[in-house]
Amino acid sequence: MSPQPRPNRRKPKSIHLPKIRIRGKGHFPTTFVMLFEKQEKMSSKNQFGKQGWTPDRISSLKGKTFVITGTTSGTGFEAAKILLSKGAKVVMLNRNPNKSADTVATLKQELGNAIDVHNIQMDLASLASVRKAAEEVLQTVSQIDALMCNAAIAQVPKQTFTVDGFESQLGVNHYGNFLLQGLLYPRIEASNGRIVVVGSMGYNLGIKTIQFDDMNWDKNYSPNGVYSQSKLAQIMCVYELQDRLKAAGKTGVKAYACHPGASATSLIRTSGSLLTRFVWQIMKLTPMVQSAEKGSYPELMCATEPELDQKGFYGPTGRGYFKGPVGECKLEPHAKDKAVAEKLWEVSEKATNFKWNF
Ligand SMILES: NC(=O)c1ccc[n+]([C@@H]2O[C@H](COP(=O)([O-])OP(=O)(O)OC[C@H]3O[C@@H](n4cnc5c(N)ncnc54)[C@H](OP(=O)(O)O)[C@@H]3O)[C@@H](O)[C@H]2O)c1
Repeated sequence: MSPQPRPNRRKPKSIHLPKIRIRGKGHFPTTFVMLFEKQEKMSSKNQFGKQGWTPDRISSLKGKTFVITGTTSGTGFEAAKILLSKGAKVVMLNRNPNKSADTVATLKQELGNAIDVHNIQMDLASLASVRKAAEEVLQTVSQIDALMCNAAIAQVPKQTFTVDGFESQLGVNHYGNFLLQGLLYPRIEASNGRIVVVGSMGYNLGIKTIQFDDMNWDKNYSPNGVYSQSKLAQIMCVYELQDRLKAAGKTGVKAYACHPGASATSLIRTSGSLLTRFVWQIMKLTPMVQSAEKGSYPELMCATEPELDQKGFYGPTGRGYFKGPVGECKLEPHAKDKAVAEKLWEVSEKATNFKWNF
């Protein structure tokens, strides 16, 4: 028998980041290090080979239409650019008309005027705005090959509320995207399309469940705890949607959950506190953080890769799942807790005043 390599028992290299307390519970940089250390031994064989999934696997997307939220920066912008570069039509759902116009102009400058891209205004922080945008999509977009729920806010320092009175991270990241999916479902179904939800490894931080007795976190608001819960909620509803589709005998629509690892985007800069932004700016300069373009690969893979198993959770598979070859990541069992997921679905339907119609 050939000798087996000795297991690597070395401790992960220490990463010197300042432990800075950010309002409420949780040290933001420390939680990153926790993830980094915790996931160290989780990498497994990548189904797409050593390099993992890359957009080289996409051939032509001519004739395909992708609807994507939050393309004014970060992974959403990069995903839109790659889809357009492959010949797809892209419908962007953004809240800020000026930024959207700039985005279209930048994309045309980089890819040429022939690209098929336009924006429909939508603010995920307002259910009325989501409804209005969905209506416009249904009236003007005849086919949806994938709805990519990419937009989010993170690390909001003080408890703030959406137009409808939801804590802002839960309202924007989960309820807004949940309603959008439900409203666009009939068109996605008619197109045999996909629903792709961009989550976060943050799902594995915080309380690791849903705080049903205080969804707005009035008693214990914490920027990181609430962000983690919102991303967990998004991920849980993907697997719950799969179960509901299956129970209804619907096999045409596929739903996927993924995460972008740690990517150099505007995320914390847009919504985080001054201190969190400062720390994240420093972290972005370290090799722990990858480019926004690479951060877009998991959602692109989920939107385009044929025969991708819906049960998986996809993202960069390197240490801590921060970066590295894109493939399947281990999903912790609390993200598939059926009792919590069923309750969350019902709570989400009630909150958004929308019943999914399968
Ligand atoms: N970057 C990371 O390391 C990281 C890690 C884990 C998960 N993620 C996830 O990756 C996804 C993309 O984020 P990113 O990192 O690319 O951040 P980003 O650069 O800040 O992009 C976020 C996008 O969402 C949009 N958005 C925010 N609030 C919105 C609202 N109320 N209505 C409509 N659009 C809204 C933003 O629009 P504006 O320009 O108008 O603000 C922007 O286009 C998010 O789901 C995030 O949770 C990122």
